[in-house]
Amino acid sequence: MTYINLNDYAKAAKEHLTPAAYEYYVGGAGDNLTVSENQAAFQRIKLLPRMLVDVSNRDLQTSILGHGIDFPVIVAPTAMAALAHPDKEVAIARAVANVGSIMTLSTMSTTSMEEVSKIGANMWFQLYVHKDRGMTKNLIERAEAAGFSALVVTVDLPVVGYREALMRQPLVVPDGMELANLAQYWNQDEYPSVNHYVAAQFDPSLTWADIEDFVSSTTLPVLIKGILRPDDAERAVASGASGIIVSNHGGRQLDTVVTGIEALPYVVEAVDDAIDVLMDGGVRRGTDILKALALGANAVLIGRPVLWGLAVDGQAGVEKVFAILRKEYDIALANAGVQSSKSVPRDIIFKG
Ligand SMILES: Cc1cc2nc3c(=O)[nH]c(=O)nc-3n(C[C@H](O)[C@H](O)[C@H](O)COP(=O)(O)O)c2cc1C
Repeated sequence: MTYINLNDYAKAAKEHLTPAAYEYYVGGAGDNLTVSENQAAFQRIKLLPRMLVDVSNRDLQTSILGHGIDFPVIVAPTAMAALAHPDKEVAIARAVANVGSIMTLSTMSTTSMEEVSKIGANMWFQLYVHKDRGMTKNLIERAEAAGFSALVVTVDLPVVGYREALMRQPLVVPDGMELANLAQYWNQDEYPSVNHYVAAQFDPSLTWADIEDFVSSTTLPVLIKGILRPDDAERAVASGASGIIVSNHGGRQLDTVVTGIEALPYVVEAVDDAIDVLMDGGVRRGTDILKALALGANAVLIGRPVLWGLAVDGQAGVEKVFAILRKEYDIALANAGVQSSKSVPRDIIFKG
């Protein structure tokens, strides 16, 4: 099979995953309207390319929080990579190191942060805030000690969304796998499914005061993941965050919520260049990356496509997913008359 786009990987991945793992990865909340809409919203945006620009030398690189990356795509945090491939998060980290990107490691990973950090990739740690704040602080301190370069605090999961696939088939951590960062706190007998753990442990009382506390107590820059409103974006800046990830959690939390790409320009306007703004949800094409940058994002993150690449071919599959996106993005830049990732003009978006 020749893989020439990310949809090829999405289709092939189904054959490499158990039905339960596939449903967990692919699914969203409610009617899955937001899952589809994340891609549809990109598809509705039309480009207005500029002609007769010398695009013989294109500079794809950019920097996020002061770190250079090869092109503006980063790995989003996704739980439980072991469901996709025995090399799990280690394979993703190796791929990221080779392609010059950044990996965000989930709190709910199946390899511990200490283990993944040994690969030497540029890593961010994604934090789910637990009711036990001592334990939450311990996770942050472990990420600092393990050499992670940023903390990504996810704020759009006060409770798990109405995920019907998980209700029909609860996600059980299979024998031989573990939620490795949480080894001291999680056990199968007490929490028969991942949802039981989340419901018992994640803190729905999280507020901006907690964010300010994390910002002031960690040595790491803090990104807030899951912001969609301009006033929340202003609040993130005021709380001392170093970045925002505009995201609806891949459509897995609140069905019919606005998409990241639609919310992005309003957040960008509110932030007014004070901090970095990233987005995720539905990025599947090089043109999607170009559109997000034109609308003000510094970079995008990809979630499911990384899992599809991992499921099909481990580290090599993840690297291929990045290679395809990079090639598509490079061709999109050239044909839109844009020379550099750092100067994508807003006016290449067609306003009608
Ligand atoms: C299987 C799966 C697990 C996820 N786990 C997490 C997680 O542990 N923490 C988190 O902040 N976001 C999590 N997300 C959301 C992703 O970080 C990201 O926002 C989303 O996948 C982006 O959309 P995309 O899959 O269309 O690229 C998860 C998404 C998926 C698909």
